[in-house]
Amino acid sequence: MEVESISTLADSRLRVKTSLKDSSVQQFETDVFYGLTSKPKRLSPKYFYDEEGSKLFEEICDLPEYYPTRTEHSIIEARTPDIAELAGPEAVLIEFGSGSSTKTRAIIEAFLARFGRLHYIPVDISKTMLTDSAHALLRNYENLRVTGVVSDYVTALQLLNDQKIKNRFIIFLGSSIGNFTKNEARDFLRRVRDTMQPNDHFLLGMDMVKSEETLLAAYDDVQGVTAAFNMNLLTRINRELGGSFDLTKFRHKILFNPEESRIEMHLESTVKQEVAIHGISRTINFEQGETIHTENSYKFSKEQIRTMVQASGFELEKTWYDQNEWFSLNVMKPAPR
Ligand code: AVI
Repeated sequence: MEVESISTLADSRLRVKTSLKDSSVQQFETDVFYGLTSKPKRLSPKYFYDEEGSKLFEEICDLPEYYPTRTEHSIIEARTPDIAELAGPEAVLIEFGSGSSTKTRAIIEAFLARFGRLHYIPVDISKTMLTDSAHALLRNYENLRVTGVVSDYVTALQLLNDQKIKNRFIIFLGSSIGNFTKNEARDFLRRVRDTMQPNDHFLLGMDMVKSEETLLAAYDDVQGVTAAFNMNLLTRINRELGGSFDLTKFRHKILFNPEESRIEMHLESTVKQEVAIHGISRTINFEQGETIHTENSYKFSKEQIRTMVQASGFELEKTWYDQNEWFSLNVMKPAPR
């Protein structure tokens, strides 16, 4: 992994590593070019998370309709002693997609209570979010050391592979795995598995299939925060790539795809139109009703979880649910080869 900077900030317990790869403007240009010139049009959900998008996502997590965050949080709160019990001596806590690290606090506290001190390695694509939350954590926990990694997950995996970390306790919460395609999810899980030793653990939050009504409401809230989160992608293209999207001519559209067991988010063009994007030297044509597919959010059955876990070289050690079985926390260990 290329490391652009390793900053040791005012607090000597904090280091931040920034990877150059994938966060670059060039990568964004390439992905927007291919995504908007392919049929159907698509954009990767990883581009939601600029500063504004990361803020909007935090707002989504607090919405009454968006059940995943609070449901997962309640399972974590109920299970922290069990989680800490599983971790090996002086385990290093590694979190993919840490965001504001809100849900992680309960786990951090349980590890601190068990081991007296903790090295926490959050990985997130947003540097602001990562450093802000690291500072807040360090203010609260004296015996905590943080190494923040500003990177996409795959690049971060390389870094973790290079480091000789004993007793990894890896967490990937919020059902972010559901935003990967099936192949991406399997590849990612296999790569994680390849970094792990027999006594390491991987805690994976996964959203379960449930009524369509509940799912649709969670992705189309009445306040329009999810719509703003989706539309922000167009604002980002306008700002960073010289796009000329007129936001009044697009709308947030979601649907549940039962064959694929996923919520799909799209941006629908409400009129036939042309949109120039200087940064990619292209004008993109849209038919009325044509969409840009911006996100999949897979919802899993127990059977799908078992299959995925096995196919990626893991053994499922435990699964915890909330009382409605709306969300699951899955503890996995590398299966012996
Ligand atoms: C980050 N990810 C798990 C969220 C989800 O539910 O798929 C992103 C999101 N998209 C719309 N609302 C939330």
